[in-house]
Amino acid sequence: MIISRKQAIGAGLNRIDGPKKVTGTAPYAYEHALDQVAYAFPVQSTIAKGRVVVLDAQAALALPGVLAVLSHENSPRLSAEIKGDLAVLQSDQVAYRGQVVALVVAETLETARHAAGVVVVQYEEQPHESELSPDANKLYKPEKVNPSYETDTSSGDIEGALREAAVVIDQTYTTPAYHNNPMEPHATVAIWKSGDVTLYDSTQGAHAVRDVVARAFGLEPEQVRVIAPYVGGGFGSKGMPHPHVLLAVMASQKVGLPVKLALTRQQMFAVAGYRTPTIQRMRLGADQTGRLSAITHDVIEQTATIQEFAEQTAIVTRMMYKAENRATTHRLARLDVPVPAWMRAPGECPGMFALESAMDELANACGIDPIELRIRNEPEIDPETGHPFSSRGLVACLREGAQRFGWQQRDPRPGVWVEGRWRVGTGIAASTYPTRRRVSSARIRVDHEGRYTVLIDATDIGTGAWTVLTQIAADALDAPIEQVHLEIGDTALPQASLAGGSMGTASWGTAIVEAAHKLRERLQEVRGAIPAEGLEVVAESTENAYAKQFSMHAFGVQFAEVRVNQDSGEVRVPRLLGVFAAGHMMNAKTARSQLLGGMSMGLSMALHEQSVMDPRFGDYVNHDFAEYHIATNADIGEIDVSWIEEDDPYVNPMGAKGIGEIGIVGTAAAIANAVYHATGIRVRDLPITLDKLL
Ligand code: MOS
Repeated sequence: MIISRKQAIGAGLNRIDGPKKVTGTAPYAYEHALDQVAYAFPVQSTIAKGRVVVLDAQAALALPGVLAVLSHENSPRLSAEIKGDLAVLQSDQVAYRGQVVALVVAETLETARHAAGVVVVQYEEQPHESELSPDANKLYKPEKVNPSYETDTSSGDIEGALREAAVVIDQTYTTPAYHNNPMEPHATVAIWKSGDVTLYDSTQGAHAVRDVVARAFGLEPEQVRVIAPYVGGGFGSKGMPHPHVLLAVMASQKVGLPVKLALTRQQMFAVAGYRTPTIQRMRLGADQTGRLSAITHDVIEQTATIQEFAEQTAIVTRMMYKAENRATTHRLARLDVPVPAWMRAPGECPGMFALESAMDELANACGIDPIELRIRNEPEIDPETGHPFSSRGLVACLREGAQRFGWQQRDPRPGVWVEGRWRVGTGIAASTYPTRRRVSSARIRVDHEGRYTVLIDATDIGTGAWTVLTQIAADALDAPIEQVHLEIGDTALPQASLAGGSMGTASWGTAIVEAAHKLRERLQEVRGAIPAEGLEVVAESTENAYAKQFSMHAFGVQFAEVRVNQDSGEVRVPRLLGVFAAGHMMNAKTARSQLLGGMSMGLSMALHEQSVMDPRFGDYVNHDFAEYHIATNADIGEIDVSWIEEDDPYVNPMGAKGIGEIGIVGTAAAIANAVYHATGIRVRDLPITLDKLL
């Protein structure tokens, strides 16, 4: 079942939630007004490994307005099913610096925060290991990588092919740790009332939070309601609940009042996830014309002792290019660090920095244009699975981008383009992201005047879901957009999958289209005569049967122009161009914003962002915006976002591929490749700071 685009889909409709957001009337989690409420503030461990031996809350409890101090000694017991990082305040063990060891609950936020500072914690400290190193003795092979990819893959004779290859690239690339920094920090309001709990939570998926909370407190899912209509960004860090959500519930249970808990920006750096640092060895073997015979990608990354997270960094190398002989591996170091987690395009983003940098090195070694090199290695089928691609627009993007960017005029020699004290260069990198969808359900009602209400627990984390889902519903119902009213962000609504994995629109849209078709059938049965009480249908989307027959991915190309100052090493990026092939765009305006945001984040990754581990303390030292540098407007030049229209009948009824993550993929490599073109210096270790160019 495919819906044709009628009027609503594709149009650059303004955000339906925009007026509420700019007038401050869209309530975010923490802003939910309550008559009587308490405030919670966490106390974090100051050691990286060991155990708490003394937790003295006397001074804190003596302060007026302090209601309780929770610790492993007195906090509510969570179900034994809850393990790892979420088993917060369940034992005296400390597994990383910044882990929550106590929680102060008070009548005001100021009191809670002050009291947290006077809780005395004494530790028995053990030696810790917090720095990622390539030492093979310290690495292990995880069973799977996120979410359930094979850890290693291998086919053909790698060593033989590399021995016989005319050109071999064998280089190691590194990316540092990065921290997700959504504009709205993580926040939860928990209301525990006679065994039931309501949460206003800043999350990417209310149903996912509900399920974890229900399990943790031994409740039925129906006893937990999670509400999240407006969310100020997540980038993956709000994909699953972190310990603060359970802490808020525990606190509310303990003091018998609703409890608000907002993490500070600094606290987020320890307890809300981050992207693992990576050490990636790439080996490419090719003939003199650049045709790949061998490609290997070996990844080293970190996880925490308290819980495993294995980033799927090498998976892109499995499907990007054709090569007879291929292998990928992932190895982890289990360190005394906070738990890494999802951050915008986990896997694809750091993985493509290595692959696309190596491809640029190969183009230079063979003396071939980097666009031509990629076209020569374009596979007819997915090299890993052997399945045909449902659609693959990489070559079309390369050609379109070359035109748009003016690539033809480029002198390929590095270091020859000089303007005053600036060296100028251009570079490209390919981009990709898998296209998936998950089972979701939707309910649609029509009243006797033909007004539709669409109900689904989708989440808008700033992406435009409010608007796009309304557009999809309008076309599927063949109704004007004004007749469609949408409700999202509440577990009281039909179950739907996360706003994650770039699959929100695909998953929710599919459920809405199914429900709309069902409702239109009902309307035909009653010949359009809607009964006074209206009509209502519920539909659950099915798994995509085509997913077993086709390899489904979005593709794109990133073009960058950089200027490197010869005296200071300063890098500017006056121009970025992204051309994407991602099926049909549901809304030209919100799609552009998504891709623009991804590319800006990619520029930020290339030049600015870096979480710096201090091995003495086992902690990231730059945990605020003063020291964790994120690209600001002044760092961003012109960003041209464009796409080619692509008809893909297999992915979902809308023909839409996800676009939430692909914008960040490849951007850093395009910039690094442009820096090489400008200077002749190959930076293989991000970020590209000026010291690396002098
Ligand atoms: Mo995304 S990192 O799947 O929210």
